Amino acid sequence: MRASLFLSALSVSSVMAAPLLPEINAHSAPADSLKKISEYFNLLAVKIQQSKFESAVPTCDLSKVVMPQAPSPLPPPSFGLSLRHVALGRGTQNYTCDPSTPTAAPVANGAVASLFNASCIVSAYPDIGAMLSTVSLDFNLSDLASIASSVASALPFPPSFLKQTLAPTSGMAVSGAHYFTNASTPFFNMDASQWKIGEAPCAKNNSTPAPEAAPRGQQGEKAVAWLKLITRPGATGGLQEVYRVETAGGSAPETCEGMPEHFEVQYAAQYWFYGN
Ligand SMILES: *[C@@H]1O[C@H](CO)[C@@H](O)[C@H](O)[C@H]1NC(C)=O
Ligand SMILES: *[C@@H]1O[C@H](CO)[C@@H](O)[C@H](O)[C@H]1NC(C)=O
Ligand SMILES: *[C@@H]1O[C@H](CO)[C@@H](O)[C@H](O)[C@H]1NC(C)=O
Ligand SMILES: *[C@@H]1O[C@H](CO)[C@@H](O)[C@H](O)[C@H]1NC(C)=O
Ligand SMILES: *[C@@H]1O[C@H](CO)[C@@H](O)[C@H](O)[C@H]1NC(C)=O
Repeated sequence: MRASLFLSALSVSSVMAAPLLPEINAHSAPADSLKKISEYFNLLAVKIQQSKFESAVPTCDLSKVVMPQAPSPLPPPSFGLSLRHVALGRGTQNYTCDPSTPTAAPVANGAVASLFNASCIVSAYPDIGAMLSTVSLDFNLSDLASIASSVASALPFPPSFLKQTLAPTSGMAVSGAHYFTNASTPFFNMDASQWKIGEAPCAKNNSTPAPEAAPRGQQGEKAVAWLKLITRPGATGGLQEVYRVETAGGSAPETCEGMPEHFEVQYAAQYWFYGN
């Protein structure tokens, strides 16, 4: 029933030529997320339609992109650095709890995320870029993959550039992986992809709360903070500073009451990489 809500929203879009009805396997996603994802795909369809009337392929010019700012802004990138890459991160924030102290707050215990190349999207289509975190968080990765392939077959010949954006995290190309090498070292490995952006062991430099209206997570939890990280010795590719912005979900409950010793909370975020 919820899936049919999504399908009707997709098919009433005036820009969709003779849509096939894709089969969506959308499990437990709340109805609200189906509305959001259909808005997302409708916006993509509009861009595809518009792009047919433009002779030039949109450029992916990172020099003109403006990083989103929280109400209490993080310190800006250091003088002389330029934006090298923007990735959509989709994964989990991990936490631990001591079962003997249920009133204590959970302790952050790293994160694991896949990084998807969002450089072109945020530079050419900032309005789509702004929707990526929330749309990707509402579905688990396996669901997103099936949604992407269904919608891809329903869209009339999207230009290859936009095809890559069909579904956040499954139509988009992987640019790397994010994990922790120890409790205080978030690490970004972005050398395996075709872009060879570099590797960045980092340390936290600054933190600011996500905007009040930031997308909540799968369990209704708040969005994790926005961060500024600085690379530690050993970074490659000239990478120097990394920002986590546009977060969605990922926070722990206030206390450990009823929580297991180790647990994960699904999150999404954008990572902005600056270098020289
Ligand atoms: C995502 O996966 C988790 C764990 O496998 C599950 O508990 C949750 O309900 C799933 N969420 C959605 C939106 O399908
Ligand atoms: C992937 O990332 C690189 C480096 O930021 C960028 O030059 C390229 O345009 C990106 N490609 C897409 C499709 O976003
Ligand atoms: C954190 O989450 C990842 C991804 O599911 C998992 O592989 C890893 O074991 C977790 N780490 C801890 C310490 O629980
Ligand atoms: C974590 O790793 C970083 C980078 O290798 C290192 O500088 C730091 O001392 C380590 N911290 C701990 C507590 O081991
Ligand atoms: C953050 O970076 C600035 C500039 O490099 C530095 O002066 C400051 O001490 C750093 N703060 C922390 C908490 O690391």
